[in-house]
Amino acid sequence: MKTVALIAQKGGVGKTTLAVNLAVAAGPTTALFDLDPQESAVIWSDRRQAETPHVEFLTERRLSDGLKAAGKQGFDLAVIDTPPAAGPQALTAAEAAGLVLVPCRPSLVDLDAIRRTAQLIKSAGIKAYVVFNAAPPGATTLLEDARAIVEGTGMSVAPVILRERSAYRAAWPVGKGVTETEPKGKAAGEISDLKKWVFEQLQMCTPSKVQKKKATTHG
Ligand SMILES: Nc1ncnc2c1ncn2[C@@H]1O[C@H](COP(=O)(O)OP(=O)(O)OP(=O)(O)O)[C@@H](O)[C@H]1O
Ligand SMILES: [Mg+2]
Repeated sequence: MKTVALIAQKGGVGKTTLAVNLAVAAGPTTALFDLDPQESAVIWSDRRQAETPHVEFLTERRLSDGLKAAGKQGFDLAVIDTPPAAGPQALTAAEAAGLVLVPCRPSLVDLDAIRRTAQLIKSAGIKAYVVFNAAPPGATTLLEDARAIVEGTGMSVAPVILRERSAYRAAWPVGKGVTETEPKGKAAGEISDLKKWVFEQLQMCTPSKVQKKKATTHG
C-alpha cells in the first residue's frame, strides 16, 4: 500500500480539502486517516452518503498499526491528513509516507509560515512537494515569486496548481469531492491531474483511461 501525507504548519491552507478530494478521486480502495484532533475529514465523511473512501481518526501513535491493517484489508492507497502544527502528528505522517505534500496558498503570509514546515521536513530528511492551492486567477508573477521562495527552503513545487474555486467550498458541506459534484468542472480537472501526478510519484497503476488522457490546463 502506498501512502501520501498532507502536512503544513499553517492552518486553512487546504490540507483537508486536498486530502478528501484526492481520496475520492483515487477510488474506493483508498483509506483516509485523519490525524487532526479537529477531525475535519471525519466530519466531512459523516455527511457523506457513499461508503467509500474509508475515513478513520487515528492518533499518531496508532498510525503505523492502522496503515499495516489497511494494507492487509486490501487498500492500495492511504491518504493522511494532519493538524496545522509542525508537531508529532505531522512528523509521524511524513515519516510514514512515500510522498509528502505541503499545501500552501501563494501569499506572503503563507510563504513566511512555510519555513517551519520546511524545517520539519529537513530535520526528518524527507522529500516534500509544495502544492500551490487557492491561487487567484492569473497571478503569474505571484506564483513565480512563490516558487522561488519555496525552492529557497529546499522543497520542490508540484507541477499541478489548484486555483481558488467555489467548487471546493461547495462540495465540502455535502461530504463530496469536486470530481463528484462537478465532474466536468475546472476544479475536478485540477484534482484529476493532481491524482495522476501523485500516482506517478508513488508508482501506482492508473486506469488506462486516465493514462491516455492528454494533459490539460485548467487555468
Ligand atoms: N482551492 C480552493 N478554492 C477555494 N476554497 C478553498 C480551496 N482550498 C481550500 N479552500 C477552503 O479553505 C478553507 C480551509 O481549507 P481546509 O480546511 O482544507 O484547510 P486546512 O489546511 O485543512 O485547515 P486546518 O489547518 O484548520 O485543518 C475551507 O473553507 C476550504 O473550503
Ligand atoms: Mg484540516
